[in-house]
Amino acid sequence: LWKMQTFIDRTVEEVRARVGNKRVICGLSGGVDSSVCAALLLKAIGPQVACIYVDNGLMREGETEVVKHTFRDWFKADLHAVDARDRFLSELKGVTDPQEKRKIIGRVFIDVFKHEAKAIPDAHFLAQGTLYPDVIESGGSKDGPAATIKLHHNVGGLPAELGFELIEPLRDLFKDEVRRLGTDLGLPDEVVWRHPFPGPGLAVRCLGEVTEEKLATLRKADTIFLDELHKSGWYRKTSQAFAVLLPVQSVGVMGDGRTYENTVAIRCVQTDDFMTADWSRLPEDLLARVATGIINRVKGVNRVVYDISSKPPATIEWE
Ligand code: XMP
Repeated sequence: LWKMQTFIDRTVEEVRARVGNKRVICGLSGGVDSSVCAALLLKAIGPQVACIYVDNGLMREGETEVVKHTFRDWFKADLHAVDARDRFLSELKGVTDPQEKRKIIGRVFIDVFKHEAKAIPDAHFLAQGTLYPDVIESGGSKDGPAATIKLHHNVGGLPAELGFELIEPLRDLFKDEVRRLGTDLGLPDEVVWRHPFPGPGLAVRCLGEVTEEKLATLRKADTIFLDELHKSGWYRKTSQAFAVLLPVQSVGVMGDGRTYENTVAIRCVQTDDFMTADWSRLPEDLLARVATGIINRVKGVNRVVYDISSKPPATIEWE
């Protein structure tokens, strides 16, 4: 039987021995892995940890606040939350190609992160929440899309470029173990049970050009969907769920008038490894509440569709 406390004690010792009195930078994305990695390091060497969180303006509703609340207020960590929203949005202006969006976001992220990291004196280590499955994946056994995604996601190459030594305290763990560890370290359920969220964030769920206005619409729809999943207990039973704002207008009626407004697609999948996925058989009444909620409360949306494609051949994301 795997004892979590033994793992914590051992890792804390190892980290202390390796780091000595140097400083460690911890990149926070808002996701489970980076949060657990940071919480573990904070436990081991608290005051020597500097966390960097880049707000790229492509996060979901309330996400930045959760990061700030959890790490600054609760863990009392030295949190550098960089507000780079304008920079990302202006670089994305006019860009419609999905891969181009990803490249821009990746490049700007590294640039912003680097700039912030350089401002932290005597930083010697960079911590990453790499898990065992990531280690296997980037080991070269698979060089399909997932490997590229992970590389991007975990900003491979960044530590070397910055001259940092890499520290990966979660590299022997699987996802379920990381969640248990997170709970033991005092992270809130909201963080521990969070679905994965792509590095390029809402930019790849706002099809076509990304604008502040479209992001605001998407965020509202996404929040209504996720709230319903949480309330009904379905959030934990599914692997990933989100709304997508389509660049499609269609005709509707409201009162006596005719509308010509946007479409939101909702996507919810079950998967073990994200390489294949099946669409979730959500209850009809849940879907109905989501659709009505979005159409009634999100201005500019008059139609909601449910994505019933599995992967393959469809991907989980729309871009
Ligand atoms: P797809 O859409 O390829 O997604 O079926 C599989 C999983 O990967 C996530 N994803 C990304 N994660 N950067 C990331 O960090 C990306 O560019 C990216 N694209 C997709 C997606 O959310 C799903 O969990």
